[in-house]
Parts: sequence; structure tokens; C-alpha cells
Amino acid sequence: MTVAVGIIGCGNISRAHVRGHLAVPEQARIAAVADVDAAVAAERAEQAGGARVFTDYRAMLDDGGVDAVDICLPHHLHADAIIAAAEAGKHILCEKPLCLTVEEAERIADAVRAAGVTLMCAHNQLMMPAVARAKELIDSGGLGRVYELHTADSFFNDFDPASMGWRAHAETSGGGELIDTGYHPAYLLLHLAGSRPVEVTAMLSTHRLTFMEGEDSARVLVRFEGGAVGEIVTSWAYDPAPYTDTFSVVGERGSLWSDGTTLHHRPRGGELATTRFPRLDSVPAVCADFTARIRDGVRPVHTEDEGTDVLKVILAAYASARDKRTVALAGLQGSGR
Ligand SMILES: NC(=O)c1ccc[n+]([C@@H]2O[C@H](COP(=O)([O-])OP(=O)(O)OC[C@H]3O[C@@H](n4cnc5c(N)ncnc54)[C@H](O)[C@@H]3O)[C@@H](O)[C@H]2O)c1
Repeated sequence: MTVAVGIIGCGNISRAHVRGHLAVPEQARIAAVADVDAAVAAERAEQAGGARVFTDYRAMLDDGGVDAVDICLPHHLHADAIIAAAEAGKHILCEKPLCLTVEEAERIADAVRAAGVTLMCAHNQLMMPAVARAKELIDSGGLGRVYELHTADSFFNDFDPASMGWRAHAETSGGGELIDTGYHPAYLLLHLAGSRPVEVTAMLSTHRLTFMEGEDSARVLVRFEGGAVGEIVTSWAYDPAPYTDTFSVVGERGSLWSDGTTLHHRPRGGELATTRFPRLDSVPAVCADFTARIRDGVRPVHTEDEGTDVLKVILAAYASARDKRTVALAGLQGSGR
């Protein structure tokens, strides 16, 4: 069976999504694309090797012949598109962030549950082989009880006011760098911790990109149910200093750390083991993983459940920085359930 996919939002990242679907023709085919910009949509349809073009994604949901959608829209449009797709009975892959508020996340969960469709968060860094191996080591007890974790994603972003578009405004991006690139180290932290986040404290900065409404850098501390504490470091202001690893985890029986491709594991009192993995283009890989899971009926690693927890960490970080206090996730505004 091949899954007929409709792309919603045909801008920058959708190119990599199209590559991902094209790489697995035995399980996916791009039946349709939708963008309010007809030229961009036509370009993406051509890249897809021919697909129906829509300028209204709702018309595509009605008439595009798709089983599933792949949402690559600006952040403030995610919730409406997810809910419309669910109500049309389509499975959903959605770029980060899941949405912008707890209330939106609750409406998404209701719509997905009512429709009986699958929603997968396109948390592409979970596809990295070093992450998968680290997760196996942690889950098999290789580190014992996990004490502390660190995840990081920082780079010198050469955005300027003219090139930044919807990302420059909190209303359309949901905040600043933290809810954008910072979403990657946030979901990675939650994945490696393997336990639910309970409280958050954060400091935000604007070091360089002063024309943004939101922050260009963030440091976030997260306490998990099991007692582990995690730190997220993320920025568009600078290239990170050498040897500040992409992720690291310490526990009662040792530690592991990685730059994203090489994984080091040092059992306490034991020998260092180093494994090098090939570099993986993780965005196309997450798209291929999506249609494989739809075909096989296997739950995605991160659905709306994990996506909501990640969102809550980010929203709690914003509240913490604003109010200069530690924020309990249980207290975040939604419908209160
Ligand atoms: N995983 C990653 O590494 C990664 C990298 C870049 C972007 N992203 C995510 O991908 C998403 C899109 O980012 P981008 O950089 O591709 O943005 P973009 O601005 O390049 O593309 C967005 C597209 O959506 C279209 N659009 C706007 N409103 C629409 C509507 N109502 N209906 C249909 N189309 C509409 C725009 O015309 C544009 O072509 C965001 O969620 C972003 O965070 C993820």
C-alpha cells in the first residue's frame, strides 16, 4: 500500500519533506500540494514529479485524493490545519511546533481522537542514529537512574529584518528562537529523559538579532517526574563553542555524550566506548518514517501527547522568563483538564 500524501505549505522546509517522500516510492506518493502562493505550490508539484496543485488546503482535503497530510506552515497556522485534516479523516505529519497554546493543543487532541487518525510530530532529530542508540542505552539501564541531561542547538543565523518574514513576529511564530530552533533540543531532552516534565525555569536573551520581537537565545532548566534535571541551550546568535556537545546524559552508572554523529559512552569505572554513525539527513528521514508507520499501523515516537508536553515546556519557559519564577507545567492555562 502507498500512502497518498498532500503537502500543506510549500516553502523552505517542504523541499526536504518532498525529498523524503520521493525516497520511499514503495510506501508514499505525493498526490497533491497546497500553498496560498500558486507559484511556490507549482514549483513543489514539479519537484514531486507531478502532483495536483491547490491554493486552498481545505479544497485539497475535500478533493485532493490524499490519505495523509504533511504540514509545513508558519507556526500560527498549524492548529487550524491539523484540526481540518483530522476532521477530513486524514493522517497528519506536522512540523514543529505542534501549535502555539495549550488550548490549541487540547483541541488538536480532541479532533485527532474523534477522527481516529494518527498525528506524528516531525521531530526529525529523533531519527539521528546516535540519538536512537543513546535512547536504547538509557532504556536498557546502561546509565542506571538518570540524574542530569543537556541538549543544545545553536548556530549563527544570518536572518535580517527583510529575510525573517513571519518568524520576526511573536503573533505568527509564537515567541522567538526557543519555539523555533529551540523546539529541537526541547523534544530531544524529553525523549532522552523518558519521563514527563513537571517544572521549568528559564532565562531568555537577545544577544544580536535585535529586530526580532522574541528572544534570539535561551537557557531552560526542566525537572522531570523521576527527579532528573535537564538543561536546554539554544541560540541563533552564535556558533557554539567547540566541544559543547549536542546532547549528554549522566546517571548512576555512567555517562554518554554526542556531537550528533559520534556517541561516547563511559560506564562508571569502565572503558570509554565510541561509536561513529553516518551523517543522516533527518528531515527526509522523518517523512519516510511517517508513511512507514501509517502503512504498518505503528504508533509514532512522538504524537500529539509528546508534542503537547514539549509545547508546555516551551510555554512554561516563556512564563518563567517573564515572571522570573519556576513554573509548574500543571498550572499552565488550558481548559484545566
Ligand atoms: N525541522 C526543521 O529543521 C525545520 C527547518 C525549517 C522550518 N521548519 C518548520 O517548518 C515550518 C515551515 O517553515 P518554512 O521555513 O518552510 O517557512 P516558509 O515561510 O518558507 O514556508 C511557509 C509556506 O506556507 C505558505 N502558507 C502561508 N499561509 C498559508 C495557508 N494559509 N495555506 C497554505 N499555505 C500557506 C507560505 O506561502 C509559504 O510558502 C515551520 O513550522 C518551521 O518551524 C522546520
